[in-house]
Amino acid sequence: MSPGVRRDDESRKPLLDLSIKPSSIVAHLDDFVIGQPEAKKVLSVAVYSHYRKIAQARESAVEIAKSNVLLIGPSGTGKTLMCETLARLIKVPFVTADATSLAQTRYVNEEIDAILLRLVDKADGDLTRAQAGIVFIDEVDKLKAPQGQPRTISGESVQHALLKIMEGSPVKLAAGQYLDTTNILFICGGAFVGLDAIMSKTHGYGFISTNDTENQNILDRLNTRVKPTDLFEFGLIPEFTGRLPIVAKFQELTRPMLVRILVEPKNSIYNQFREIFSNEGVELEIERRVFEQIAEIAYEYKTGARSLRGIFEEMITPILYIVPDQPDLKKVVIKSLFTDPTLIRT
Ligand SMILES: Nc1ncnc2c1ncn2[C@@H]1O[C@H](COP(=O)(O)OP(=O)(O)O)[C@@H](O)[C@H]1O
Ligand SMILES: [Mg+2]
Repeated sequence: MSPGVRRDDESRKPLLDLSIKPSSIVAHLDDFVIGQPEAKKVLSVAVYSHYRKIAQARESAVEIAKSNVLLIGPSGTGKTLMCETLARLIKVPFVTADATSLAQTRYVNEEIDAILLRLVDKADGDLTRAQAGIVFIDEVDKLKAPQGQPRTISGESVQHALLKIMEGSPVKLAAGQYLDTTNILFICGGAFVGLDAIMSKTHGYGFISTNDTENQNILDRLNTRVKPTDLFEFGLIPEFTGRLPIVAKFQELTRPMLVRILVEPKNSIYNQFREIFSNEGVELEIERRVFEQIAEIAYEYKTGARSLRGIFEEMITPILYIVPDQPDLKKVVIKSLFTDPTLIRT
């Protein structure tokens, strides 16, 4: 039997371990993603409800209304990382794609088919698993053609093409099989630069303002809620935003958060390099001040956590170069980005 034509005998198995609760999803995310508590909550509940609904729909004949998710936030703040981490936890296949590259091809439907094919690949050819996967589509905020710059295909056509699979439809794959997208969770992402300004213009909840803290909290919540109309300025059409009823906002990373990202996640850059050094029989110790210096530089680059690794590697490469030549080296201590490391030998 070739992959993909595997029979549906596994389809009764719950897709999501139903003992996984939103709170345990958040706890798991905390091991890998620093900060973004609101987004973690929203996404965890969305994913939990999504897979619950699928399980229930299999039991009853109730049609599920799918709630896809929109992630809004600056680049490099953990949107992709959070989705990836989530997919790994609940063991569903996960792929990412850029809406902007869909807008640069004349064959948008073929491109979309290719995305779904990648999802099937990630599921090792298992259609059932692919049909419960997660597709992350980034840069949906950049579908509007810049002034005077013609697009191969309009942002609206891209959205219409995406809508088809987001709403759920059978898609014929190259191998002749059909992939049903009904239960695939679509997560869209975008930076939506300038959204705050748009929101402060269009949100008129201020007039019910009172001194009462609780009312103020409700007011704050209303005022931070993104309305579909706020997204129209980014070229999103109402049908498209209507398919993304769940919105999670990612915050800009602060310097202390950048420091934490270097050190705290289970697979943090620091941990990875301590492992590399340890494999050479050398202990690596980096003082906190160094991470603060790296965070400071990365912060200036305004690319979220993206530049952390590059800066770190620039610092560590000259040391990694000499380590294998020095069998008596026991420990490396780095005290500052701007001074030579201390080499401790046996
Ligand atoms: N909140 C975060 N916690 C931990 N690491 C992060 C965080 N945000 C970004 N990173 C790091 O930066 C890289 C780029 O982040 P990514 O999730 O791709 O950003 P986005 O999708 O928001 O543009 C990730 O691979 C990860 O190493
Ligand atoms: Mg991303």
